[in-house]
Amino acid sequence: MVSLSASVAYLFDRYNVQIALSEGDILMNTCISGKQDSIRRDQKGNFSIRGDASTQKSIPYTTNDMERVKPLLLDLFSGAGGAARGYADAGFEVIGVDVAPQKHYPYSFYQANALDVLGALLGNDNLWQGYALDDFAVIHASPPCQEYSCTRFLRDATVATPRIREKLVSSISGLLRETGLPYVVENVPGSPMPDSITLCGSMFGLPLRRHRWFSCSHYLYAPCACRHTETFVNVLGNKVRGYGEHRKKDKFFRDGDRLRAKEGQLRKVVGQTAMDINWMTIAEMSEAIPPAYTKWIGQQLLAIVESERVA
Ligand SMILES: C[S@@+](CC[C@H](N)C(=O)[O-])C[C@H]1O[C@@H](n2cnc3c(N)ncnc32)[C@H](O)[C@@H]1O
Repeated sequence: MVSLSASVAYLFDRYNVQIALSEGDILMNTCISGKQDSIRRDQKGNFSIRGDASTQKSIPYTTNDMERVKPLLLDLFSGAGGAARGYADAGFEVIGVDVAPQKHYPYSFYQANALDVLGALLGNDNLWQGYALDDFAVIHASPPCQEYSCTRFLRDATVATPRIREKLVSSISGLLRETGLPYVVENVPGSPMPDSITLCGSMFGLPLRRHRWFSCSHYLYAPCACRHTETFVNVLGNKVRGYGEHRKKDKFFRDGDRLRAKEGQLRKVVGQTAMDINWMTIAEMSEAIPPAYTKWIGQQLLAIVESERVA
């Protein structure tokens, strides 16, 4: 008799695994990836799934712990995890990477340069932090958007020495194509992603007017057109800003020799409700993707990953 952990029993159930005990450390052979796979137990007693024994190709599930059977998503330029939350809600296990420390990121996190991470995964060793490219089911990237955003003109006009960020969308998109994995690149309208779809909070019942472009290795669709009405808000430039009804309350103020309109500025909780995010600072929220967007995309990607796995 073999005693099986709950997670292995779950796999049996989900993938209709045929038990075939064999020699060595192989606990059983199965066809989880549609090929010849084996479930092994390492010296520490952890279970892992490996693909066809002749190629040792792993399938896109975390490999060192059978408690985690969700497909793994690499979240590059993770920020404080707005995008990550949506992918996790869709059913992915998420690993974040950002060049800056992210103490509010809610999942596993590595501080690193995203270009170095992709370089290591595509390099000779094909390894980064013990992960191989094939360990990931999907890669998401949200490179900095400041140099593509229309607000850069305002920044350049009002700040004496504006901080210029790198334009990384094209180089990251090229590297992601090289991986051969399903991928998503997110950025603002105006970025060099002509094949992208637009998502907005108003498509998800959020009182949020926030347009983001998503370019994907696979066909993606949006839920509907934008449905803005008055009283919609956005979080940008470290402020919760009002549109429509809020703007009617604007007053003018003098800025040097110019007369400028005051924007409606709202409390943090209004922005949190609109974004459906409650674990970040306003500055982090200014950069974040609302989780509803990536949950929507994540559900489509899960279907793609699942169909490619059984194909
Ligand atoms: C638009 S924000 C990401 C927002 C995040 N996706 C979210 O939904 O919360 C861009 C992030 O890229 C990070 N970043 C900039 N250059 C980077 C690089 N070369 N490698 C990794 N992260 C980088 C910044 O620190 C910033 O947190």
